Amino acid sequence: MLAGKRVVLIIGGGIAAFKALELIRRLREQGAGVTPVLTGAAQEFVTPLSASALAAEKVYRDLFDLNDEHEMGHIELSRAADLIVVAPATADLLAKMAAGLANDLASTLLLATDKRVLVAPAMNLRMWTHPATRRNVATLARDGVLFVGPDEGAMACGEFGPGRMSEPADIVAAVAAALADGPLKGRRIVVTSGPTREPIDPVRYIANRSSGAQGTAVARALAALGARVVFVTGPARVPPPAGVEVVRVETARQMLDAVQQALPADAAVFAAAVADWRAAHESDSKIKKTGKGRAPGVELTENPDILATISKMKEGRPPLVVGFAAETDDVLSNARAKRVRKGCDWILANDVSPETGIMGGAQNAVTLIHADGEEAWPRMSKDRVAARLAARIAGELGPADGG
Ligand code: C5P
Repeated sequence: MLAGKRVVLIIGGGIAAFKALELIRRLREQGAGVTPVLTGAAQEFVTPLSASALAAEKVYRDLFDLNDEHEMGHIELSRAADLIVVAPATADLLAKMAAGLANDLASTLLLATDKRVLVAPAMNLRMWTHPATRRNVATLARDGVLFVGPDEGAMACGEFGPGRMSEPADIVAAVAAALADGPLKGRRIVVTSGPTREPIDPVRYIANRSSGAQGTAVARALAALGARVVFVTGPARVPPPAGVEVVRVETARQMLDAVQQALPADAAVFAAAVADWRAAHESDSKIKKTGKGRAPGVELTENPDILATISKMKEGRPPLVVGFAAETDDVLSNARAKRVRKGCDWILANDVSPETGIMGGAQNAVTLIHADGEEAWPRMSKDRVAARLAARIAGELGPADGG
């Protein structure tokens, strides 16, 4: 999968550094050459000898090692790389990257490179959720840095939450997606997915049954063809794919914001099941029973239509906007009308009547509707629908400049 590729692996100083050794082994199993770079702190957790033995390569750790600079300076290190991976990416390393600091070999390498960078953050959950880290992550994502993880789970510090480094197998998948040399290389595509959650009060919300399966499959298929995917997802049941930039949102309004932030893009695919309405007034405290048997009325107000808003942008509209039309009656005529009303270029119509088993299921049967006609695709897995859509998008966009 990674034959002939060279990964410069920067190992940061966190307890997850031990997993970086396993990552070296797995990357090599896939055929990649791995050049390990250890920060000073990383050497407190793993020894250069272990990294070197597993990589079967020299380990780099000192910016001022004249011998190294003579043999292979930091510019050379970056030149030789197809991808730079930072795992574990500590809060400190992310902060340095976001600020553009260059005071050791790892940070200098990261500032001096024009290669793609994939980071696998790992830190205590309070560090991960701290506003400073949130800011740094947002800055890096805007700069085009790719993220894999962190996962949620038990952490070495005895706490539970987001901050665990992704498993080596997931990082390898993200590396493969980042290096995918497909027809969408150089393209940036925004994908929305999952349901949205519209709060009524602090404990209740309006939502829907979307699992996020189709949107996730679309994002994965686009990344596999080499696209840089910004994956804007509501609280879905399936985990996001590796190798894409994940932006998690809850409400429709947050989803619209996130999509607008993610532009410009070459294409946008709107696979999310956005709630059409939200509570007009979100109560600050839990709505109580009156005891008189009278149910409270929840006044609803309409949510923004993300697909229509983006389709009708006067400036900066993605050249290709794709929507889905999940219908239970008059599927095709409703979908045709929807394409025109919302102003998108393509719409994928599908029948979500309960008897089809499509909503929440693994299969889908869609018709692609565009201005010049329609194509009914046979019933197939959501993964194959995604792959076919990704291939059609690649055909439509053609090769990127310099791609
Ligand atoms: O719910 P509806 O059938 O109108 O959804 C059709 C398309 O519009 C889907 O692609 C969906 O992601 C998108 N949509 C949206 N924002 C909404 C409602 C729907 O982007 N508020």
